[in-house]
Amino acid sequence: MRLGPLRVPAGVVELRPPRLSDGGTWSRVRLRDRRYLEEWEPVAPGTWEDRNSPLAWLAQWGTLRGLARRGVSIPLVIVLDGRPAGQITVGGIVRGALCSGWVGYWVGTHAAGGGVATAAVAMVVDHCFASAGLHRVEATVRPENVPSLRVLAKLGFREEGLFRRYLDVAGDWRDHRCLALTTEDIPGGLVARLLAEGRAAPAEKV
Ligand SMILES: CC(C)(COP(=O)(O)OP(=O)(O)OC[C@H]1O[C@@H](n2cnc3c(N)ncnc32)[C@H](O)[C@@H]1OP(=O)(O)O)[C@@H](O)C(=O)NCCC(=O)NCCS
Repeated sequence: MRLGPLRVPAGVVELRPPRLSDGGTWSRVRLRDRRYLEEWEPVAPGTWEDRNSPLAWLAQWGTLRGLARRGVSIPLVIVLDGRPAGQITVGGIVRGALCSGWVGYWVGTHAAGGGVATAAVAMVVDHCFASAGLHRVEATVRPENVPSLRVLAKLGFREEGLFRRYLDVAGDWRDHRCLALTTEDIPGGLVARLLAEGRAAPAEKV
């Protein structure tokens, strides 16, 4: 599955499934950007170096693939101008009467501030609603994470509430704002909205 391409100020953004060969770039960017990423990501066992080594990618890639095959996750690599620049994942997918999942994302510092995450979230939410059978997508964000809240605000995510001491992040249990969209909020889709607002433009495949 590939989503995009979409042109934003930073370049041309596409989404594709993770590959085993992404490990080198993934590890290099995440080791370089530790301070910028660690402040917002849930803790996990092991040191940052161990968790983000090229070897760690093998395990993560296998886990992501397994979750995708079980239909509980949609893991994607964010590609900017043909090169991996981050990740976006829809996880915790529950079907039945809920048909909902959460979206999580990160973009390397070299690619930040140019509309990449906004385009990625727009494309993945449209996919969730138009093809993956979801009715709702939520995002939980620390109140201090201004760039991430801005991404969601640009896309019209609604405030749903504050989850107290919700996730173990950067050494403590942190409050998170919960924002969400349901299909009724965006009948025409998020990409169409970005195009209409001039925040993105159609692009040729890179
Ligand atoms: C959050 C994140 C994914 C945003 O990626 P991005 O590609 O830079 O996002 P975009 O460029 O689409 O949008 C970011 C917006 O925040 C704004 N912004 C960035 N830093 C800001 C700051 N310190 N204060 C105010 N606004 C800020 C940008 O100007 C932009 O808004 P604009 O388009 O109105 O100018 C990226 O910063 C990141 O990976 N951070 C670390 C991991 C993380 O926080 N993940 C999300 C966890 S919920």
